[in-house]
Amino acid sequence: MFKTRITELFGIEYPIIGGAMHLLSRAELVAAISNAGGLGILASTTFDNLDDLRVEIQRTRELTKKPFGINLNLFPAMRPRPVEKDIDLFIDEGVGIVESSGTSPEPYIAQLKEAGIKLIHKVAGVRYARTAERIGCDAVSIVGFECGGHPGLDDVTSLILVPEAVDAVSIPVCAGGGFCDSKSFLAALALGAEGVVMGTRLVATKECDVHPRIKEWIVNAKDSDTLLIGKAFKLASRVAKNRPALTAAEMEARGASLEEVLPIISGQLGKKAWEEGDVDAGILSLGMVVGRINKVQTVKEVIDEIVNGAKQILERLKRVVE
Ligand SMILES: Cc1cc2nc3c(=O)[nH]c(=O)nc-3n(C[C@H](O)[C@H](O)[C@H](O)COP(=O)(O)O)c2cc1C
Repeated sequence: MFKTRITELFGIEYPIIGGAMHLLSRAELVAAISNAGGLGILASTTFDNLDDLRVEIQRTRELTKKPFGINLNLFPAMRPRPVEKDIDLFIDEGVGIVESSGTSPEPYIAQLKEAGIKLIHKVAGVRYARTAERIGCDAVSIVGFECGGHPGLDDVTSLILVPEAVDAVSIPVCAGGGFCDSKSFLAALALGAEGVVMGTRLVATKECDVHPRIKEWIVNAKDSDTLLIGKAFKLASRVAKNRPALTAAEMEARGASLEEVLPIISGQLGKKAWEEGDVDAGILSLGMVVGRINKVQTVKEVIDEIVNGAKQILERLKRVVE
């Protein structure tokens, strides 16, 4: 059940992708997602050193025999080293699936294809989904306003973007931003998506290596407890509404420059917050689904609940239409 072109393309059981999360998508979490029947994606930007990234790929392979992917973040500010070095490593390590994001993967697509790599590109607008199809991506994920990390600059929600993207391209579309449970999973499929990309839901899992206080914050958070910052600098980020995020938003509203805001939104402080559990220590990327997450579970529990719950909803809907 729930077989789509996405399950077929990636050789996975369920059309559920754990979108890469900088600092968090490490071997244990990625392998847990793949072992539970989804597709885990390693976040390559977490590793400043290429050798460390190689070790993490190998560690993931030891923890799962199932397919997993790796993220190629093309946004220049997120690059710890030239893109080519990552691609050479992926090919050398026999990585079969890449999730690109940030900017268009066009300059690299021929090399990736030649190596037999399946490429899913993540976009935040329908015009970019069209580009992904035109340049030869195998699939595209589209993320809406609700998502943790980087939504687009147009403030369009997933409910609008997903069906638009489905109508605009013929490659399979995955829906991201706001998907966290059986209801939203089935809604994504109803919108025409052939899979979901989840980030925030997977932070509050036992396998995600962040401080328990952060997971507790998520469990207690309301749907209004995230904030969009960075639009003035043309890089929108949805983050936890904590002290540094509120300060950054205030500074942005006052017309502060990126240089002035940077010390507050620094990645180092965010890292400290994830690791030490001080929610106000730095910026934490999180999506609106924080308001819908009520417990910390294992990844397998999350994925099983999504799949089994979706089957039950389908049964109920069948009775509704009969
Ligand atoms: C903590 C966190 C870090 C993220 N880091 C990245 C990243 O490094 N690269 C990327 O392409 N997307 C990143 N994302 C976005 C996710 O891969 C995914 O697209 C998004 O979380 C989906 O929306 P959701 O949060 O509503 O589930 C991140 C998301 C979160 C929550």
